[in-house]
Amino acid sequence: MIQKLTFGEPFIAARYIEQEADYAAPDQCILVNLDTEQPVLVENGFSLPPLQACEIRFSHIRVPGKALLLRHAGTVDLNDLQTLDILRKVWKSNWELTHLPQHRGVPYYKSPKVTLGKLSMNLCLVAEPECPSGIHREHDRPIRELHVQVVGQGAVDLLRSPDPASVYASLPLAAGTVHIPEWNAEGVYPWHRYRSVTRCIFLAVSIEE
Ligand SMILES: [Fe+2]
Repeated sequence: MIQKLTFGEPFIAARYIEQEADYAAPDQCILVNLDTEQPVLVENGFSLPPLQACEIRFSHIRVPGKALLLRHAGTVDLNDLQTLDILRKVWKSNWELTHLPQHRGVPYYKSPKVTLGKLSMNLCLVAEPECPSGIHREHDRPIRELHVQVVGQGAVDLLRSPDPASVYASLPLAAGTVHIPEWNAEGVYPWHRYRSVTRCIFLAVSIEE
């Protein structure tokens, strides 16, 4: 099953793929394995493990579980102010979405959210470099959370406490990558935050347990 998703418009096209024996991916795209158990088989014996991402190019893939393809991310230039302005108009800032005081003036802009069963996803523009999100440990429900870097560079920081000076590990993110899981063997998260390194776009993925 292949489903076109529009949440990345106007610049990023998305396809959700489920249980496809042979899908011919088009030109360069980011492949995200959204399955918690099954790999995505690419070519020549290369398989993408669960909850991992990579870039592929004109590749044939076999998706026994669930996957996402994002196209055209490589053409998005966030140093082009016209592009930035379009995204800031089409996607909603955290402040517009919540009106929480901590979101006032914070340059995070979220695309529409897509929900497919236990899975939900949205893209997020961080319009300034070196800009951290809020530090948190809990989510509104028990989830597996991933940040897939789509444009530019970012990082996920792990912290000892809500104090921004208490970072003890950072998981760097280049476009086309996802971090190793933040949660421990018991499914418990440390204090954590996303942080832009350059202006960037990432894909936030939540999988309900
Ligand atoms: Fe989180």
